[in-house]
Amino acid sequence: MKAEPYLHTVRAKETDAFSLSLRAQAEAADIPIIAYDGLCFLQQIILMRGVNRILELGTAIGYSAIGMARVRHDLEIVTIERDAERLDSARQNIDAAGFSSRITVIEADARTLDPNTLKGPFDMIFIDASKSQGIHYFERYESCLAPGGIIVTDNVLFHGFHEMTIRSRNLRQLTQKIDRFNRYLLTRKDYHTMIYPVGDGMSVSIQLR
Ligand SMILES: C[S@@+](CC[C@H](N)C(=O)[O-])C[C@H]1O[C@@H](n2cnc3c(N)ncnc32)[C@H](O)[C@@H]1O
Repeated sequence: MKAEPYLHTVRAKETDAFSLSLRAQAEAADIPIIAYDGLCFLQQIILMRGVNRILELGTAIGYSAIGMARVRHDLEIVTIERDAERLDSARQNIDAAGFSSRITVIEADARTLDPNTLKGPFDMIFIDASKSQGIHYFERYESCLAPGGIIVTDNVLFHGFHEMTIRSRNLRQLTQKIDRFNRYLLTRKDYHTMIYPVGDGMSVSIQLR
């Protein structure tokens, strides 16, 4: 049964003017940000799991961090971005949203940043930086996860790569790495993982205690 066409008609639409302006800002600068239903999914996980502290890899212009921070007034987020220009936009947007005291933006390369320098632990880690580095990010930052915490990764179905004929060598290598990451998650018996066809595909890995 294909539920997608029906779900499209009963799914909440993004109507908030500020969020729409951030989405337009990202689109104009050709910066990829999370799909709206992906953001709603994150918000629901935060509410379901009572998440208080989040580490995000890949801030871009702050859209997802702001969207997550909106769910609860006591939520704290640390978010990492390596692109200085995007960081400037993110800081401005976070300030305009009134969340500067709850969202800490760090300029760093998530591939090499020492996780011990972050003020963990975090109840949730949201991986949304370079898509080829999933395993590396997972293994590098899981030490910051609170016991029983949750790691969510975006774009694990990357534009429906599993049904595409991919001619570009770079794209093929990228999707092979995403596929490797998805299969890697299943080998991690210390996590319970599910992949959801939400947004661009999101994996949810809950650490088992
Ligand atoms: C998909 S965008 C993030 C979108 C954002 N989470 C949202 O939904 O609003 C990915 C971001 O990760 C950043 N990025 C990629 N590799 C990175 C790295 N190694 N360290 C830090 N940031 C990185 C990119 O510059 C880009 O802004």
